[in-house]
Amino acid sequence: MPKNDRRTGVIDRYSAYLPVTEATPRIDLGEGSTPLVRSRQIGPSLGIENLYFKLETCNPSGSFKDRGMVVAVAKAVESGAKAVLCASTGNTAASAAAYAAACGIGCIVFLPKGAIAPGKLSQSIAYGAHIVAIDGIFDNTLRLAREFCDKHHEVALVNSVNPNRIQGQKTAAFEIVDQLGDAPSNVFIPVGNAGNITAYWVGFREYAEGGLSKTLPRMMGYQAAGAAPIVKGEIIEDPQTIASAIRIGNPASWQSAVAARDDSGGRIDSVTDEEILEAYRRLARDEGIFCEPASAASVAGVIKARREGTLSDESCVCILTGNGLKDPDTAQSFETNQTDAGASLQEIEAALAL
Ligand code: F0G
Repeated sequence: MPKNDRRTGVIDRYSAYLPVTEATPRIDLGEGSTPLVRSRQIGPSLGIENLYFKLETCNPSGSFKDRGMVVAVAKAVESGAKAVLCASTGNTAASAAAYAAACGIGCIVFLPKGAIAPGKLSQSIAYGAHIVAIDGIFDNTLRLAREFCDKHHEVALVNSVNPNRIQGQKTAAFEIVDQLGDAPSNVFIPVGNAGNITAYWVGFREYAEGGLSKTLPRMMGYQAAGAAPIVKGEIIEDPQTIASAIRIGNPASWQSAVAARDDSGGRIDSVTDEEILEAYRRLARDEGIFCEPASAASVAGVIKARREGTLSDESCVCILTGNGLKDPDTAQSFETNQTDAGASLQEIEAALAL
């Protein structure tokens, strides 16, 4: 059984489960093997002793995307692609740009203009991606990315519609089972383009089928209330939410997310921006975990389900998909505990009201 091992990345550790061949380059930026941390405050306050956070924030580009991107970019290199391309709300772009840089191939990112959190944008800039800022929402940029790659065959599309992405991302489910000894009862996960919930379900099923876990979790997906097409059952033309990562109105993996929900006996629900921000704040201030707002939707989901009385006290894992540093503006919109002081101990003590 492949165990968490921080010395190797996803391809080496899980090659037996991935579509890799001898010819696939062994790219490795140290992705995967992320911590599973037990909640110290939020879980006990909700009467859930076994609430865990999967810190996908600890991946090399700061989000879960790296697990799938390492496989997608390796396969692109193997097939002779000159460049990779993705549409993105920011994290996919940062990850694609990082792995393309590592492989010495080009990277083009299509971003919805003005809608990307500044930390994510700085990553794409730093890694040297060619950034195309496009009018309209994410769904529009994804459509154009698909059309572009249909026409330009030397450029590989590395959005989650690329099956290699799903294959890489499923390894997070393997790790959770390895870390807990079995699958948890519930997995809470934010849903945007719906690739990740799809990937986790593939991973949990594969491990169960291989006899590596005895049980399967319920997949509990959470969209933002202003961007909840799956919950509403209709495309949202103008999605709105503070969680810009999941501001998506027509998810590409809609059908497979619904299948994951139904096959697992789970749920896809929505949480408001207020609920997301409450969870985001509690994660930082009560747990010491700084994730981005979209990630906090998973924890907002646990809080909501518990308040509604629809969740028992069984084990839950929340997937914290992206690092808080990517979206500093949201943190800085909170009231701060900062006082200016002159450079003397006396003035500092006065500022601290000691
Ligand atoms: N959390 C974060 C931090 C994300 O960046 C995303 C998606 C999701 C959750 C939702 O995952 O799309 O697989 O359902 N970000 C994509 C991007 C859309 O372009 O970075 P999903």
